[in-house]
Amino acid sequence: MSLSRRELFRGGLAAAGVGTLALRADALPTLPSGTLNRYPEFQALADAPLPFVAPTAVLPDKVKPTENNILGPYFREGAPFRAKVTPPLVKGTTMLIRGRVWGFDTKKPLANAVLDIWQADADGRYDNDDPKNPPAKGVYVNRTRVLTDETGYYEYETIHPGAYKIGPDAWRPAHIHYLVRKVGYTNLITQLYFKGDKFNDKDQFIKASLIIELEKVKVNGSAIESGVFDVVLAAAQKK
Ligand SMILES: [Fe+2]
Repeated sequence: MSLSRRELFRGGLAAAGVGTLALRADALPTLPSGTLNRYPEFQALADAPLPFVAPTAVLPDKVKPTENNILGPYFREGAPFRAKVTPPLVKGTTMLIRGRVWGFDTKKPLANAVLDIWQADADGRYDNDDPKNPPAKGVYVNRTRVLTDETGYYEYETIHPGAYKIGPDAWRPAHIHYLVRKVGYTNLITQLYFKGDKFNDKDQFIKASLIIELEKVKVNGSAIESGVFDVVLAAAQKK
């Protein structure tokens, strides 16, 4: 499915509706969690105590635009802006995902990028996967939009998605769908996967560059998962 110009425009309006953010000069790279380190050049920052006064963050040259991935059949336009994807206290392991959106052309973080996030519940079900029982208009379950801040940063809380079967020996491992839009950049449709998922090798769509490692963290006695997923957008083709 391709997005119409009107849909693109609506994405831009959504960003404008919550105010225009200017990128802060001291925007930092996302600090890696645990042993995960997508950008080894930033290890010094990760080990530094916060608050950390850093030079203006620049994406390392070798970091490429984030790879795309299939949209899948379950995207819905118009999810609400909220930092928690799932309803309160639903079944599943709590997970925190955070990261920054970057411009590949400028090597700088991008403020005001809009990320559509959608996923299955802990049982591998989407809110619109049963044609006989579609979601009510305006009701969005396990979907959100988030906006990057003045440092290109975003975060959301959710639960670890369930895997689901799509064929006799074909599975979709746990994954989270992303559609990232920013004026002046090519829309990115992609998915986030998790290292160690037993179904990763049963999936024909997964890409190695989209797999992150989750760190187990104790919060108030409960084990949660935390991961970092930075997104690098390619500039839109000039006409
Ligand atoms: Fe999916």
